Amino acid sequence: MADLKLTNVAKSYGDVDVLRNIDLDIASGEFIVFVGPSGCGKSTLLRMIAGLERITGGTLDIGGQRMNDIPPSQRGIAMVFQSYALYPHMTVRDNMAFALKIAGQSKEQIREATDRAGKMLQLTPYLDRLPKALSGGQRQRVAIGRAIVRDPQVYLFDEPLSNLDAALRVATRIEIAQLKASMPDRTMIYVTHDQTEAMTLADRIVVLAGGGIAQVGAPLELYERPMTEFVAQFIGSPAMNLLPGRVSATGDLTTVTLDGGGVAHVAIPTRAGDEGIRVNVGIRPEDMRETEGEALFEGKVDLTEALGEVTLLYFGTQGQQVPVIAKLPGIHPGLSGRSVRLTADPGAMHLFHEGRSLLYRDGVALPPYAPRAAAAPDHAGGAFSQA
Ligand SMILES: Nc1ncnc2c1ncn2[C@@H]1O[C@H](COP(=O)(O)OP(=O)(O)OP(=O)(O)O)[C@@H](O)[C@H]1O
Ligand SMILES: [Mg+2]
Repeated sequence: MADLKLTNVAKSYGDVDVLRNIDLDIASGEFIVFVGPSGCGKSTLLRMIAGLERITGGTLDIGGQRMNDIPPSQRGIAMVFQSYALYPHMTVRDNMAFALKIAGQSKEQIREATDRAGKMLQLTPYLDRLPKALSGGQRQRVAIGRAIVRDPQVYLFDEPLSNLDAALRVATRIEIAQLKASMPDRTMIYVTHDQTEAMTLADRIVVLAGGGIAQVGAPLELYERPMTEFVAQFIGSPAMNLLPGRVSATGDLTTVTLDGGGVAHVAIPTRAGDEGIRVNVGIRPEDMRETEGEALFEGKVDLTEALGEVTLLYFGTQGQQVPVIAKLPGIHPGLSGRSVRLTADPGAMHLFHEGRSLLYRDGVALPPYAPRAAAAPDHAGGAFSQA
């Protein structure tokens, strides 16, 4: 079994606390992705699990066994790094075999393990080549092969694809997904800065920030039910817009009078007494759409970015404040400089008070998450008034 249990795990370097209060249960066979801003401790946490970094507080159990003081080679773990650092004078097969030779395995065992890894990673035709005769993606596959030959219970990946160009990243990402599918009982923990990798590979994403865990959940759960403004803006690209305002009517549908003059109807309940509280209405750029009717946001387009599949509209880029961004499907020539009216569905909007989502208020348990289906187009959630 390869389940992991982190209990109150902490890491400090002298006086500097890097991580604290990390509680995390990872089931055997899960694909977990760590994301978070640079320097938040993702690599440090991975290295503590690998045994490459001392755990300064709390406990780590793997398969029910306490691992804090167990050396890396005895943890049943293999780690793949961003810089694959292959031995340049060794063939692909010898690179993959190196750790097995050190461990004193027989020639037959080594041949079998490297054949198997070569097949899984489609490296069979390249087993006798030197690394310099491989593409970047093939080299990274050799680095993964070095992990596979050891047949670990747990795979740790630290940004394994970040040195690859865009097309290779996509191809290798899909290979990693297929690799995981071929090893359903092996556990994988994967660090990345890439939104697409996190969303597509993970069973659950762990968002790390400020030395702790900000939220853990299925990718779409984090996208649709972020607990905080931080998670809301970290997951999704461009980041979620936050429009400040005050609650003007409570109930199952909350009405917010926005500072910018619009009115938003948000399908997150508030209760009597909430009238007047300051909130931020969160709207993802892709949830905004143009309307002829009531708008919740109206503004002059300062800048457009035409990506073909979508067009990004930027509002308020000159001011000190963060621009509002809308992402419209398709091509929209000539919008720059024009005034545009935008709305969004009540069920697609978020509501934050003091940085926290009102959906998670008072620790009330939410019903189990089910992805939101695309909404009917005629349910506009906005009204715009200059009054
Ligand atoms: N040996 C060390 N002594 C002191 N501080 C350290 C040491 N190693 C790492 N740190 C600090 O620990 C923090 C976490 O580093 P870590 O490498 O885990 O970040 P990360 O989330 O992986 O960042 P990135 O996304 O840039 O890779 C950083 O602020 C870093 O400066
Ligand atoms: Mg790192």
